[in-house]
Amino acid sequence: MTLPAEPATPMSSARTLGAAWALSAQVLKAANLDYGHGCASAEDEAAWLVLHVAGLPASEAPWFAEHAEQALSPEQAQRVDALTVQRVTTRQPMAYVLGEAWLVGLRFAVDPRVIVPRSFIAELLDDGALDPWLIEPPRRVLDMCCGSGCLAILAALAWEEAEVDAADLSPDALAVAEINRQHYALQTRLHLLASDLWAAFAPSQVYDLVLCNPPYVPTASMQTLPEEYRHEPSLALAGGADGMDLVRRFLQKAPAHLSDHGVVVLEVGNERAAFEAAFPSLPAIWLETELHAEGVCVLLAHDLREAFAA
Ligand SMILES: C[S@@+](CC[C@H](N)C(=O)[O-])C[C@H]1O[C@@H](n2cnc3c(N)ncnc32)[C@H](O)[C@@H]1O
Repeated sequence: MTLPAEPATPMSSARTLGAAWALSAQVLKAANLDYGHGCASAEDEAAWLVLHVAGLPASEAPWFAEHAEQALSPEQAQRVDALTVQRVTTRQPMAYVLGEAWLVGLRFAVDPRVIVPRSFIAELLDDGALDPWLIEPPRRVLDMCCGSGCLAILAALAWEEAEVDAADLSPDALAVAEINRQHYALQTRLHLLASDLWAAFAPSQVYDLVLCNPPYVPTASMQTLPEEYRHEPSLALAGGADGMDLVRRFLQKAPAHLSDHGVVVLEVGNERAAFEAAFPSLPAIWLETELHAEGVCVLLAHDLREAFAA
């Protein structure tokens, strides 16, 4: 179905947030979009869009009820319409259209230089879920493959005493991470590093907690990604034939950069079977998150040392 040339409600006249949401959701729904970037439906995306234009945080559901009767000005209504049309015609993820993504209630600046933040690891940093594997609050944390810096920032906020490093191969991603680092005023405690995995790390850089959401999409799946994902940097997604190219290189050298009781938290999404085929004797503790059962595992330093002993 194409965009309605004459929408049921005249576009761009003043209307309530609720009316703007209903119209935007109707248009998004008709366009058969993919919603894998932080929203599950046309209704959720439309709510986010309308709240964004109204200058309200889209931080948590139910997003709308308390604002539904609030008025949008004609200019704001026009902006909702323009952004709705932009989402449909470009098929960019809504996060790129709006220049923001929300993760566990926090806003991160994003643009097409960086993958849209949606890591399952985020919620594990939000509620003390990693405490069973940490003998004490981590003092040195690394976010390997940091993208927008979202996980590094969440870690820095979760453990206020920690020094946090965040590394990425992409200068573009690091530029976006810098915007977010400044927004959260973490310049003194969060350090950004350009590195091909561990290549730029000194032997003395040792961590109590290493977070890693690497590219892990297998080559065959890369070829069938919905349009929305094709707007994201392929460097952030492509994980080689079995999705494990980066994971292999990352884990191989991880033991040298872990403290005695160090912990790795690794996301592999739908690729658990590929992970287990690649590392059959490596004990992995699979964690259930709200958004994905068993897409993230915990790996302990002594197990990694045994598995990758030279
Ligand atoms: C799936 S994204 C994760 C980004 C961020 N941590 C998040 O959760 O939104 C993977 C990131 O790995 C980076 N990357 C790809 N190859 C890399 C490499 N060899 N060394 C370091 N980072 C790499 C990409 O640039 C991308 O930002």
